[in-house]
Amino acid sequence: MSKQTKRQKPKSRAAAQKSARKVVKLAAAKKPAKKANGNGGLPKPSSKPYGQAGLALEGVRILDFTHVQSGPTCTQLLAYMGADVMKVERPGAGDITRGQLRDVPNADSLYFTMLNGTKRSITIDSKHPKGMDILNRLIKTCDVLVENFAPGALDRMGLTWDYVHKLNPRMIVASVKGFGPGPYEDCKVYENVAQCAGGAASTTGFREGPPLVTGAQIGDSGTGLHLALGIVSALYQRIRTGRGQKVLCAMQDGVLNLARVKLRDQQRLAHGPLTEYSQYSEGVPFGKAVPRAGNDSGGGQPAWLLKCKGWESDPDAYIYFITQAPVWGAICDLIGEPTWKTDPDYATPKARLPRLKKIFARIEDWTVTKTKFEVMDICNAVDIPVGPILSMKEIAEDESLRKTGTVVEVDHPTRGKYLTVGNPIKLSDSPARVERSPLLGEHTEEILSKVLGYNGSQIAEIKASGAITAPKKEEKAA
Ligand code: COA
Repeated sequence: MSKQTKRQKPKSRAAAQKSARKVVKLAAAKKPAKKANGNGGLPKPSSKPYGQAGLALEGVRILDFTHVQSGPTCTQLLAYMGADVMKVERPGAGDITRGQLRDVPNADSLYFTMLNGTKRSITIDSKHPKGMDILNRLIKTCDVLVENFAPGALDRMGLTWDYVHKLNPRMIVASVKGFGPGPYEDCKVYENVAQCAGGAASTTGFREGPPLVTGAQIGDSGTGLHLALGIVSALYQRIRTGRGQKVLCAMQDGVLNLARVKLRDQQRLAHGPLTEYSQYSEGVPFGKAVPRAGNDSGGGQPAWLLKCKGWESDPDAYIYFITQAPVWGAICDLIGEPTWKTDPDYATPKARLPRLKKIFARIEDWTVTKTKFEVMDICNAVDIPVGPILSMKEIAEDESLRKTGTVVEVDHPTRGKYLTVGNPIKLSDSPARVERSPLLGEHTEEILSKVLGYNGSQIAEIKASGAITAPKKEEKAA
C-alpha cells in the first residue's frame, strides 16, 4: 500500500477536531496578526518531522450534502487533505451514483466509490422532523456545508442561508450550480451541458466536424476543484472575520475559466487571423467566432498529434509533438532535415507558420518509425517536449503513478480491491488520506453518538421514528 493510503492517526478524530477548532476559535478571537513579532502572528515553526504534524485540514468538519460528481469531487479532495467529511444520504437510497454504471452486482459502483473515498456516510431523511433535529445539531458542529442540489432544493429542505447562518454564524455554505445568477439560474445541469455552455465544446473537435465534448470532466470535477479552493479561502478568511460566507461555483463559469485561452483567441480575432491555427497555414479564412482547432496547440508553439509505430492496429499509438522554437535545430537534426535550420523558409517561427502542414507531415515520417515511448525518450534527451497518448490501461498499470499515490488501490468490503485516483495535489507536510468509500449509512450511529452526543436510547428512538432508516415498503393488499 502506498504511503499516501495510510491513515494518520495521531489522535482520535474527535480529539483532533476539538483541538483544531480551539485553534481556529482562538485565531478568530485575536486581532489581526501583528507583524511586529516577526512571525506574522503564526505559531513557532513545528519541530516535528515533515509529514508528522497532522493533516492540512485536520479539525475541519464538513456537512456533505453532495451527490453525483461535481460536489463529491470537492469534498473528496477536502477529505484527502484531512477534513472530516460526513456525507448525508437519503435513507435506503443514498447518492444515486451508488447504483449507476454498476459492474459488480450488489456492490457500490465505481462511479460512487471513486468519488466518495475517505468520507463517512450518515443516512438522514431531511424531510422528517427528527431528521431535521439531527441536521440542526450537525449544522452547529460543522464548519462547512457543501451541496450541489438543483437550484432551490436546499431552501425547500428549510436550510436557507438565513436559517443555517443563524444556527451557526461560522458556517461556510458552498454550492455548485449549473449557472450563476441570470436567465438560466434555475436550470438543472450535468457535465456536458456545462461543457457546451462554458465555451469548451464549440472550440473542441475538428473544423469540418460538429462541436465535441471531452472525456475529462471539466464541468463536474473541474467545478468541484474550483469549489474546494473557494472553501479553503473562506476558511482562511474566517480566521480573521470569525464568520462564514456563501461560496458559489457555477459550472458554466468553471468551464469558461478552464477554456480561457479560447476567449483570448476570440479577442485576438478582431486583430487578424490566428496564425498558429493550422487553418491559417491551409489558407482557410476565419469566421466571426473562434473555430475548432483539432489538435493544434492552445499556446504559441505550433504542435500536432502524430502517428507512431503500430498505429495501424493500436488506436493509442500516437505522440503529441511540440515544435518549440528554441529546439528547432534539434528537431531538424532528428528528422534528417539539417538544411531547414538555415533555410529562410524554415529557419524562423514566422517563416514556418504557413508551412506547418508540410513540417508535421515530415516529422511524422520520422515518428512513425518509432514507438511512442521511443520518441518520448529520444526527444526528451534533447529537450523537445512531446507527449505519448497514454491509454487508461497504460495509466492503470503505470508504476510511477502508483508510487506517487496518484493512482491508489483500496479494498472495499463488498466489491473488493479497486483503483482510485488519489490526491493530485501533493503537500510536503500533509500526506494524503486516501481510503475506500463508505457503505450507505455505515457511520450513522458513530456520528450520532460520537459527534453529536446522542445516547443509546435516543438513537433507538430516532431509529424507530424512521428518520434514519429506509421507509418500509407498503404492505401489498392480500
Ligand atoms: N432526505 C430527503 N430528501 C433528500 C435528501 C435527504 N437526505 N437528499 C436529497 N433529497 C431530495 C432534495 O430535497 C430534493 O428534493 P425536492 O426537489 O423535492 O426539493 C431532491 O432530493 C434532490 O433533487 P435534485 O438535486 O433536483 O436531484 P436530481 O437528481 O433531480 O438532479 C442534478 C440532479 C445534478 C441535475 C441537480 O442536482 C443539479 O442540477 N445540481 C446542480 C448542478 C450540478 O451539480 N450538476 C452536476 C452533477 S454531477
